[in-house]
Amino acid sequence: MSRQKMYYFSYYRESTLKNKAPAFLPFLLPVIVAGLYCMGYIPPEWLNKQAEQLPRSAEPMPVGLERLLSARRARVQDLRQWCAEHLDGVAVGILEIGCGHGRFLVEAAMRFPEKVCVGLDVLSRRLRSGEEKRERRGLQNVFFVKAEAAEFVEAMPAKTFGAVYILFPDPWPKRKHAARRLIQNDFLTALAAKLVPGSKVFFRTDDKVYYKEACKRFSEHSHWSLDTHQPWPCDSTTYFEEVTGGYRSLVAVRNLLISAKTPCHWG
Ligand SMILES: C[S@@+](CC[C@H](N)C(=O)[O-])C[C@H]1O[C@@H](n2cnc3c(N)ncnc32)[C@H](O)[C@@H]1O
Repeated sequence: MSRQKMYYFSYYRESTLKNKAPAFLPFLLPVIVAGLYCMGYIPPEWLNKQAEQLPRSAEPMPVGLERLLSARRARVQDLRQWCAEHLDGVAVGILEIGCGHGRFLVEAAMRFPEKVCVGLDVLSRRLRSGEEKRERRGLQNVFFVKAEAAEFVEAMPAKTFGAVYILFPDPWPKRKHAARRLIQNDFLTALAAKLVPGSKVFFRTDDKVYYKEACKRFSEHSHWSLDTHQPWPCDSTTYFEEVTGGYRSLVAVRNLLISAKTPCHWG
């Protein structure tokens, strides 16, 4: 070892910083975890799992995780409040998850004026674009809500929505990021719990791998069946539909109990 390296090594060994590091960690951890979550490295499903474990765990949780979970609980509580104010008594609404610029939802709201339409997105700028469209058309039956999908599903009242649209969701094409895709078993279970039997999910993507995976997840899930004969009811073009080449669609129906399985083919 060179003399300079030796110097740094012995400096580190003697450094008080090294001894203080564990004391810093609880303060650094929330920043690191929040940063990773914002960058999308921590999937919401993982947080949901941690939230489920929270009351049962006797172990004290790391400060950062606890803060993240309490922030999540607060957001879900705010969404419950919003739902109580705006969705009371609504029975046949349309929910769009990841509504982006709101083009599809605004057209759906015009086409079905008797239905309440709710669009979710995590990006404020896109939601504002949807709100501007709503204002221009003077619509009263469409709402844009800044919310993460799993959090909104947890907060929303049961039997409110009869149709859920998921149009061009982020495909997360790399295999290592696949866990961040919206269509996961836990999410399908949570969504089914809030929908009446016969409710439909309309899913559309330009990503072949994601499409196949979604078909598989819906068809293998006991709460859902694919309905290959179901027509696509509201065929207005979304922003992402315009900028992507082609797409594939599937319609999944919320089962009464256990479903018969439907095969699914690409093309
Ligand atoms: C590729 S864009 C598609 C937007 C729109 N559906 C369209 O076709 O033009 C996907 C949208 O989903 C939103 N999104 C991604 N993950 C989400 C989540 N977990 N909850 C709610 N929105 C989400 C993104 O912010 C983005 O606006």
